[in-house]
Amino acid sequence: MTILHLPVDRAAGVPLHRQIYEGYRRAILDGRIRPGQRVPSTRALAEDLGVSRLPVLAAYDQLLHEGYLAARPGSGTFVSDAVPDDLLRSPAPAGSRPRPVRAAPRPAPRARDYGGLGPFRVSLPALDQFPHAAWARMVARHAHALSHAQMAYSDPAGTTALRVAVADHLRTARGVRCEADQVLVVSGSQAALRITAAALLGEGDRVAMEEPGYPFARAALGANGAETVPVPVDEEGLSVARLRRSERRVRAVYVTPSHQYPLGMSLTAARRFALLEWAARREAWVIEDDYDSEYRYVSRPLGALQGMDPNERVVYIGTFSKVLFPALRMGYLVVPPALWQRFMEVRTTFDLLSPTLYQLVLAEFLSEGHFARHLRRMRGVYARRRAALLAGLARHCGGRLTVHNADAGLHIAVLLADGLDDREAVRRMAARGLTATALSPCYADQARARSGLLLGFGGFTERRLVEATRVLGEVLGGSA
Ligand SMILES: Cc1ncc(COP(=O)(O)O)c(C=O)c1O
Repeated sequence: MTILHLPVDRAAGVPLHRQIYEGYRRAILDGRIRPGQRVPSTRALAEDLGVSRLPVLAAYDQLLHEGYLAARPGSGTFVSDAVPDDLLRSPAPAGSRPRPVRAAPRPAPRARDYGGLGPFRVSLPALDQFPHAAWARMVARHAHALSHAQMAYSDPAGTTALRVAVADHLRTARGVRCEADQVLVVSGSQAALRITAAALLGEGDRVAMEEPGYPFARAALGANGAETVPVPVDEEGLSVARLRRSERRVRAVYVTPSHQYPLGMSLTAARRFALLEWAARREAWVIEDDYDSEYRYVSRPLGALQGMDPNERVVYIGTFSKVLFPALRMGYLVVPPALWQRFMEVRTTFDLLSPTLYQLVLAEFLSEGHFARHLRRMRGVYARRRAALLAGLARHCGGRLTVHNADAGLHIAVLLADGLDDREAVRRMAARGLTATALSPCYADQARARSGLLLGFGGFTERRLVEATRVLGEVLGGSA
């Protein structure tokens, strides 16, 4: 419905119906209201303008008669699709002021292309296995029952029920040492990273990043003017020795200890202790991004780094993007008590709070056991999908790539044979309906970048994955 700003002036000496007619006509010609947009009913407009219906009826009659408006029986009155440009550009009737030519309407923005949803799109969980019915019932029930308090502004830290449920889950499933009052509910890891950057890092500060690392973390942590310092990873994860050698003070370090993004290894126990010891000695903060640690295929899931730290120097970040779905935009921080106040101040000025409706739904999803059940089921689904991808790669892509790590998570990192450019491979894959992420853009230092692909398997059936590896083999073999 188009509510047009239409000042009518009873003292103007111009009849009301003429003012309304002119107001609408000019708005259509200026492009302020566009073909296909609905206009209010005569009753609603009369009420809105504080006039009787008669002048509104007269104005609409004329606009309909002249073709500016069109009535669609049963659905209302709309700006006509068929206002001919000639008419729009015709000279103003004698006596009226010259009017501007209708501004050419720009097309509605096209949805931004996020790289397609074909195999091997990374960061895509098994949406085909999501318990839609149970979820939809819970959303509907909570939406119906929303109280006034729940519709109003509320605690920026999140609802108590969700904070308690998240803390329970993290203590038992991830070995995080936390109480509910340390849990800050936010809109996904990305928001968590921006909040962390604003709370800990200012202009001129330095933050160490895994190299290669998660580009979105690099961008978020550098957003407030902090300098990001790449520290290489090897098969044991972040090189703490290289971090120690860094001469200038590093205020924080970002790590993905359970499943290094993008290469996939986990930070060994020895490195974890060394990192925590370094942080305590240098009074630095460790930012732990535990984005997909629920899924591990070769050994038991590792506990969180945060749970090993007696000194409370770890800011822990988790998300529901991989375990439920990314568009939910729900994640959380576990904040060391000493930093709580600062994080709350930032969170409050950031986006106030996360949508209460979904917090209520999630809290029930967790506390009623749906979440644990879903995770258990997904572990089997992903194990089968991962095995199908590995088998397909061995069968169709042998010699053109090597699997670097496939121990955990929802994607496999592969390195391309010498001479194959990963960005070019991604382009050629896209032409065949495949979606992948190139490894080389994950390096801050492009001179040292390795060529590889991140192949997501979470969102695709085994059959689809095997078929996609056949196509991938053709693409990498040059026959695309
Ligand atoms: C390293 C890493 N952290 C976090 C996320 C999740 O981000 P978000 O919670 O903002 O959806 C991803 C998703 O791909 C990721 O790869």
